[in-house]
Amino acid sequence: MAGGQPFSIENLRQVHAFCKKNGIRVILDATRMVENAYFNKIREKGYQDKSIAEILREICSLSDGCTMSGKKDLLVNIGGFLALQEHEREVFEEARNMVVIYEGLHTYGGLAGRDMEAMSRGIEEAVNLDHIRARVGQIEYVGEKLLSIGVPIVQPIGGHAIFLDAKQFLPQLKQIEFPAQTLAAELYLDSGIRAMERGIVSAGRNKQTGDHYYPKLELVRLTFPRRVYTQAHCDVTAESVEAVYETRKAVKGLKLVYEPKYLRFFQARFERLR
Ligand SMILES: Cc1ncc(COP(=O)(O)O)c(C=O)c1O
Repeated sequence: MAGGQPFSIENLRQVHAFCKKNGIRVILDATRMVENAYFNKIREKGYQDKSIAEILREICSLSDGCTMSGKKDLLVNIGGFLALQEHEREVFEEARNMVVIYEGLHTYGGLAGRDMEAMSRGIEEAVNLDHIRARVGQIEYVGEKLLSIGVPIVQPIGGHAIFLDAKQFLPQLKQIEFPAQTLAAELYLDSGIRAMERGIVSAGRNKQTGDHYYPKLELVRLTFPRRVYTQAHCDVTAESVEAVYETRKAVKGLKLVYEPKYLRFFQARFERLR
C-alpha cells in the first residue's frame, strides 16, 4: 500500500473497518511506510504533534500484519521480514515453519546475524525526524529544480522518488516506441544515472492474447538511495534531466529485441529506432 502516493490514516482506517466487516485481512507493504508516516505528520490533520514512531504504530494497528523490505527505509543492504499481529498466531506459525524450507532456520530466516543487527539499528535510525526530513528534502530540492525549468513531473513531489512524465516529455513517441524506457536510456547515456521505467515495459503482456498492456501512464522513476547523495549529486541529476530535456525533440524511440519470460522490465534489451 505504501509503494506509490502516500495514503492517509483516515483512508486506511476505513479500509481496515471495511475489511474487518467482510473477513478480509489487511497486510501492509510496509517497505516505504516511514516516508508515508512523515507525510501523514506534515499533511494530515491531527498528526502534527505525533512522532513518526507513534504514527507508524497507529498505521500498524490498522492492519493484520505487514511485509517489509529492509533495503529501503531501514537503511540496510539486505533483509526484510514478515510481521503478524498476535491474533494471527496460526498464520505466523505456518509462515515460520515455511521459512525453514525456503529461506533458512527460523531463528535467522536466511540472514546473517550482522544483517539482522544492522536492520535493528536501522529501525531506530529510520524514525528520526531530522533524517527523514533531510531525505525527503533532497527529493523536493531536485523536484523543484525540474519544475522551475518546465520539466513535466508527477505532483505532488513524492518521498522516495521523482517521476518524470515521459508522455509529455517525449510527445513525438508512440507508446509502442517505449517513451519511458527511451527517456531512462537517454538519461543513462547523458550522465550514467540509472532510472526505472514504469510504463508499457513494466506493464507486461496479457497472458491470454499475448498483447502488450498499454497503461495510461509512462513514467520514469528517479529513486533516491538514502544517505548516499550529496547536494552535488542532486545538482548533477537535475542538470542531466535538463540536458535531455533540451534535446528532447531529436530523441527517437526504441524497439524491443530481447524479452525474458518473467518481469521483462528487469532484463529486456532494446535498440534505438533510426
Ligand atoms: C513498496 C515496495 N515494496 C517491495 C519492494 C520489493 O523489495 P525487495 O527488492 O526487497 O523484494 C519494493 C522495491 O522497490 C518496494 O518499493
